[in-house]
Amino acid sequence: MTDDTKSSNAMWGGRFAAGPDAIMEAINASISFDKRLYAQDIRGSRAHAAMLAATGILSNKDAEAIGEGLLTVLSEIEGGDFPFSTALEDIHMNVEARLKELIGEPAGRLHTARSRNDQVATDFRLWVRDQADAAIAALTALMKVMVAQAEKGADWVMPGFTHLQTAQPVTWGHHMMAYVEMLARDRSRFEDARKRMNECPLGSAALAGTGFAIDRHMTAEALGFDRPTANSLDAVSDRDFALEFLSASAICAVHLSRLAEELVIWSSAQFRFVAMSDKWSTGSSIMPQKRNPDAAELIRAKIGRILGATVALFTVMKGLPLAYSKDMQEDKEQVFDAADTLMLALAAMTGMMADLTVNTDKLEAAAANGFSTATDLADWLVREAGLPFRDAHHVTGTLVAMAEEKGCDLPDLTLEDMQSVHPALNSSVYDVLGVHNSVASRQSYGGTAPDQVRAQVARWKGLLG
Ligand code: ARG
Repeated sequence: MTDDTKSSNAMWGGRFAAGPDAIMEAINASISFDKRLYAQDIRGSRAHAAMLAATGILSNKDAEAIGEGLLTVLSEIEGGDFPFSTALEDIHMNVEARLKELIGEPAGRLHTARSRNDQVATDFRLWVRDQADAAIAALTALMKVMVAQAEKGADWVMPGFTHLQTAQPVTWGHHMMAYVEMLARDRSRFEDARKRMNECPLGSAALAGTGFAIDRHMTAEALGFDRPTANSLDAVSDRDFALEFLSASAICAVHLSRLAEELVIWSSAQFRFVAMSDKWSTGSSIMPQKRNPDAAELIRAKIGRILGATVALFTVMKGLPLAYSKDMQEDKEQVFDAADTLMLALAAMTGMMADLTVNTDKLEAAAANGFSTATDLADWLVREAGLPFRDAHHVTGTLVAMAEEKGCDLPDLTLEDMQSVHPALNSSVYDVLGVHNSVASRQSYGGTAPDQVRAQVARWKGLLG
């Protein structure tokens, strides 16, 4: 409604003679997206009403009517036949207005000793907390799949890369476990963020607290928070819990994008290290031979949305004076989209990794290419011939150049060839030139040797249960 004759808002319009302009309504309303907070909003209101009754601020009769009425609203929303109204701005006022239709006068008493400012801060914390829990569970599921991949391939040899150039042989298991470490840190970031966000803003009211003798510990406990927040200004005006969730999501998405990129490379015709199952690939409408790793590509790209949301909310919050400002209504869509995106990416990665076929022959052949055991040869010269590492490096470099010139690999050089470069070289050097010997020798803690990988697999299986 655009004309001035429209009545003012039923919730806050006491001092207004006319309703808002249609464009004002459009920019002001959040119901189109914050309806996602309906369950949290109703849960918070029920806890608030029960507390108001327990402290004698509300009669038991009114509190009961409110509690019951809110359950009716909940089932109406869940049944999909709730008439959400833009004129009522947001989820908080939509729920309250419907409650009034259902139970009449007592509905007007629910908003005693609270404000939408502490209400939305509470609802949103509850929602983000649920998402943190979901992220923790999804990361745990992905870690289990990665550990299973590592266990299967603890001694499969593959090329390890630096600069995407073959560097030294590593094991498939070691590569998989690298991601387990990253995902574990991601998980702990969500756990940390959850701990810090788990304080209840409800009862902070608009910004200064309330003159009613409320029991904030009671509502905090009812809503599963560790304690009430200790400063009402802070409680209604910070969204750092959402920023932490987004930051943790962005870092996690960076990790997922790197694994996704590796899957894209590894599944290419040039590599063929892995094959995605039919469930996780798509064909081309024109090129019959194609098997495209679309899911991996999309996971690789999804970081853009998550990082975008993170930057957006940081920008919204920067420089906002205390306490609440309407700017903060812009927090929700960003977090909703980032959370949805992250959950989808985690689920897709888990499915893809569980179904992945690994071409161990290709891995092993590639591992031996590109003089990948040159470092092992240099180490042999240090260990067996007492050369300083720098000299050993030089000798090995000369041997690599010789092999390159002959168009062969290091183990294909004859002992004569080798000794022409350094007389201390003897036939036992060939033992370290094989890729299996190479990885088996890397026994330092956290190294790529199959024994080390198996030890890490066992540790993580114990931790993940
Ligand atoms: N829809 C609002 C938000 O998401 C609720 C809080 C409104 N508070 C206010 N004083 N206008 O931020």
